[in-house]
Amino acid sequence: MASARGEFSSRFGFVMAAAGSAVGLGNIWGFPTQAASNGGAAFLLVYLVVAFTLAYPALMAELIIGRHAHANAVTALRQISNTGAQRLIGGSAGIIGFIVASLILSFYAIVAGWMMAFCLSSLLTLFGGESAAAWLTSFGFTRNVLGMLLFMGLTVAIIARGVRDGIERWSERLMPVLLVTLVVLVIYVMTLEGAMEGLKVYLLPDFKRALAPDLILNALGSAFFSLSLGVGTMLIYGSYLDDRQNLPLVGGMVTAVDIGIAVLAGFLVLPAMYVALHNGVEIFTPDGKLISEDTLIFTVLPELFNSMGLAGILVSVFFFFLMSIAALTSSISMLEVPVAYVVETRGVARRKTAYLIGGCIALVSTAILLNFDSLFGLVITITTRYSQPLIGFLFCIYVGWVWHRDQLLQELRKGNPDIEQGLFWKIWPWWVRLVCPTIILAIFLQSLLG
Ligand code: TRP
Repeated sequence: MASARGEFSSRFGFVMAAAGSAVGLGNIWGFPTQAASNGGAAFLLVYLVVAFTLAYPALMAELIIGRHAHANAVTALRQISNTGAQRLIGGSAGIIGFIVASLILSFYAIVAGWMMAFCLSSLLTLFGGESAAAWLTSFGFTRNVLGMLLFMGLTVAIIARGVRDGIERWSERLMPVLLVTLVVLVIYVMTLEGAMEGLKVYLLPDFKRALAPDLILNALGSAFFSLSLGVGTMLIYGSYLDDRQNLPLVGGMVTAVDIGIAVLAGFLVLPAMYVALHNGVEIFTPDGKLISEDTLIFTVLPELFNSMGLAGILVSVFFFFLMSIAALTSSISMLEVPVAYVVETRGVARRKTAYLIGGCIALVSTAILLNFDSLFGLVITITTRYSQPLIGFLFCIYVGWVWHRDQLLQELRKGNPDIEQGLFWKIWPWWVRLVCPTIILAIFLQSLLG
């Protein structure tokens, strides 16, 4: 039964796919700039602690529910429920997750479309297509829609092929390319004038800033986004794992790769910003903070690349290629959430479902682009700040309180018969029952109030 619905063929395939989902724009773009403006290495330390104490246990909750049920989130949460009310809440949470995953994809595809446009633009510059190149990097509705459609098309094409031939095969291909590209870029940027300055900002710890309470909560939020939690993505990937896998171990690997890439990206982005400063590009906002978010990626870095001549164009191609790949291995994991649900519960063919749902999400993206100023930020806030923590909270409650402890143990024993003796079983069950929900609720209340 499990293999009829698709299954990853190996542990490597799963880790690449799940790490591919986790490693995305959040890692390469979000983490480094956050670290830079929030105490450098001290933020890194806080982030590490938070990722392993909160995000990792929450990831395990999703993986275990998914692997146990070998089904989409709605079916899985209903399956582990004991009462009618629990089934209703679980099923609704699954459906909300499906909607949230689709909405996250609708804005993610827009941003990823920009990345592809910038990559193409640098390629065109290389071959003398200056005017087309300029068009590709200037903000406009047509450029935005075309970039989004191109990216969405790739995402749909991969998901239409299924778990092994689509998700696993492409993650296995793209993740190593991503890693090599990133390492090459880091090495190159390190040799440039000004890079060491950036390295200092990244690595000198400022504990006063990093231990501020709002910052710890921020780190929690980004760790959650970074590990793709709270929409059922990791649940569905867990459902494609075979029973022989040792879940705490594979979950740990995914977390480690995710954090590793984020830290590595810091060695690229921060030094690059100070190289830009060295070349006369403005990298501070009027109030003295480092420029971050979209201005960093779409203004500061391109200005840096422009100031570097031919080498700059090449670096630019590589950089935006890296971003596009990181985005693609993440976007497929978002689309898989609604697609798996419809395929499994409505019995529609996967290919048809992928094209249909992908098309609907592209329409939502277009609507966002038509009302960019009012909708873009709003959709991001609703999905990442409110919905993700809430559904993540529910997953922890289902694993910690609804599901029977002996069934949980049985599920974990499948891949590791001695799990009861290990540290994981001594800590995790009560941790995910008490600590995780409490802290997630705290983040949630904080974002409601703040
Ligand atoms: N983790 C990805 C990133 O860092 C984004 C992502 C992929 C995601 N799948 C998700 C975020 C599901 C939330 C939910 O960019």
